[in-house]
Amino acid sequence: MTSLLEVTNMSVRYPIYTGLFGKLTDWFTAVDAVNFSIEAGQCLGLVGESGCGKTTCSRAILGLLPISAGTVSSEGKPIDFDNPQALRDWRRQIQIIFQDPYSSLNPRMNVRDIIAEPLINYRVGTKAEAHKRVAELMDRVGLRQEHMQRYPHEFSGGQRQRIGIARSLALQPKILICDEPVSALDVSIQAQIINLLGELQKDLNLALLFISHDLAVVHHLADHVAVMHQGKLVEAGERETIFTDPQQDYTKKLLAAVPSVPRQ
Ligand SMILES: Nc1ncnc2c1ncn2[C@@H]1O[C@H](COP(=O)(O)OP(=O)(O)OP(=O)(O)O)[C@@H](O)[C@H]1O
Ligand SMILES: [Mg+2]
Repeated sequence: MTSLLEVTNMSVRYPIYTGLFGKLTDWFTAVDAVNFSIEAGQCLGLVGESGCGKTTCSRAILGLLPISAGTVSSEGKPIDFDNPQALRDWRRQIQIIFQDPYSSLNPRMNVRDIIAEPLINYRVGTKAEAHKRVAELMDRVGLRQEHMQRYPHEFSGGQRQRIGIARSLALQPKILICDEPVSALDVSIQAQIINLLGELQKDLNLALLFISHDLAVVHHLADHVAVMHQGKLVEAGERETIFTDPQQDYTKKLLAAVPSVPRQ
């Protein structure tokens, strides 16, 4: 089976500038030869402590940061990030949900326009069709259609995350990256959003890259888990294997810090 998302030996570096004139003096390798893949309908949990390179990975996969080595492929074809048309096509297939739903929603747009924006950008259907699709999407993520004319500040944190999810689904992507999608939410609301993401993954056969430093949340959703430490993947495998029989000391330490995850 070919993977919807395959990352092969991917490295990402940040330039380090120093001195009065901001001279480029060095590079910091934030992601170092990382490999993983995700099939349709599967969820990969990418875990690791703050600063280990999770967000850098996701930004590079989306083409928002240049990759210094390796490839990102989908269904066996490498993505040509230098080709604007290829990048545009790729960004239609892969969408991202962010940690902070409020800052990722334009406060001056109502919910209908926020969710319809990707459809308008990609010129999918007429305006009337876009608005019909918005109603369906709001329904799908558990928002009330009557609230279409409301603005982001009129919603709770959990509802705002649902708006972000609806927008991310507008173009019917095959792959969804969730970068700490529930870390900013109350624990009770976290479970609802996690359950919604799980349903969508199954119903829409999405490949989900679920990024989190919270192993309890990852345990709930992921089929496979990849553990990252200082830019490198230290361990990867099926969820139960990672949680019950971790091989690497770093994974054991991470698990020991989470009392609520069931372990043998
Ligand atoms: N724009 C940047 N320039 C230079 N270094 C950066 C930049 N952005 C991130 N870094 C560094 O790259 C490393 C990885 O950062 P990244 O944001 O990918 O981590 P993360 O795993 O997503 O962390 P968190 O769990 O806190 O979100 C960190 O050491 C960070 O300081
Ligand atoms: Mg991050």
